[in-house]
Amino acid sequence: MKIGTIKESRAGENRVALSPDVVKNFIKQGFQCFVESGAGIASNFSDAAYQAAGASVLNSAAEVCSQSDVIVKVNAPSSDETALMKEGSAILSFIYHLSNPQLVESLNTRKLSVFSMDAIPRISRAQSMDALSSQANLAGYKAVLLGAHHSARIFPMLMTAAGTITPAKVLIFGAGVAGLQAIGTAKRLGAVVEVTDIRPETKEQVESLGGKFISFDTGEVKIEGGYVKETSEDTLAKQREILGKHLAAADVAITTALIPGRKAPVLITEDMVKSMKLGSVIVDMAVEQGGNCEISEAGKVVVKHGVKIVGELNLPSLLAQNASEAYSKNIYAFLTHLATKDGFKWEMEEEITKGTLIAKGGEILKK
Ligand code: NAI
Repeated sequence: MKIGTIKESRAGENRVALSPDVVKNFIKQGFQCFVESGAGIASNFSDAAYQAAGASVLNSAAEVCSQSDVIVKVNAPSSDETALMKEGSAILSFIYHLSNPQLVESLNTRKLSVFSMDAIPRISRAQSMDALSSQANLAGYKAVLLGAHHSARIFPMLMTAAGTITPAKVLIFGAGVAGLQAIGTAKRLGAVVEVTDIRPETKEQVESLGGKFISFDTGEVKIEGGYVKETSEDTLAKQREILGKHLAAADVAITTALIPGRKAPVLITEDMVKSMKLGSVIVDMAVEQGGNCEISEAGKVVVKHGVKIVGELNLPSLLAQNASEAYSKNIYAFLTHLATKDGFKWEMEEEITKGTLIAKGGEILKK
């Protein structure tokens, strides 16, 4: 089986889907690897490193696509890239098929087999393939560093001859993968950390990392497969009321609250921003899903009512080397699960295949 990867074309994207280390592992298993020249450079992987690992480095994306049975990418292919792919070949990348039906249509007209890296089920045997988690983990870390960067305050307590500086207060919304990493990072920097989530089981996890859990009566919360499915407007209103005073005292707020496939819940209204201290910072990680803060702006850092609101859309790309290494390992675990060096196994009823295969042979399997 021939695996190819090309340079990511999304603006500001520094990641790449294959690292030289993972190329080496694929080659050991009998796969062949093709890499577009320069594809890894923004992740600090040189063409020479890919060659040394056993890949063939080719001059253009067109050459890579014409050679490969499967293309592995971070972002979904653009229409130009889709046109380069061999009819009947396969693509593995983030697809977000529920919000991108047109993209799925266009991949399907080329009869591509489309596997979506964002649809890997969160089950233990798929943990090594879980690209959403590997990237969210790094993003949670970077979100705290950005919060610290944009704040005019330091995080730790400091006792100096000029007096004592009290530790910063960091409020984290959502204790999933990104949130838990954000708690650990803010604690390591010396902040006092408060956390809210509506899954009660997160309280113990938050406390084990040294965070203070803000409890409130969540009422009925629908949870399925570990994910929140729905939250009533009543619960959200109650939550906003409880959080108001915590937010007003916070120096940095990091928001990660997510309901998969839905618009992000609004946990910080414009009025709540107005109540915050001058110079405080919100890093809204859910900005791509509409934002946990009502007035954050996607891809921008804005100052509103004296509060800096960071809407960075691609935090993992800011840590491209580690993010690519982790993503590439996810790709390796996933592809060696789906295929051998002789081709795909096509175990159509197997849970991971079933969950991630969006289209095959001109048929859309998931809408
Ligand atoms: P996750 O599903 O592991 O965690 C989300 C958490 O939000 C869950 O613990 C859930 O219980 C909680 N939640 C849901 N409703 C809530 C509410 N009303 N109040 C408090 N908590 C609530 O998701 P993960 O992987 O941690 O991702 C978090 C967010 O970060 C997502 O929106 C994701 O798209 C985003 N993200 C953004 C990146 C960027 O570059 N901006 C990069 C990676 C992730």
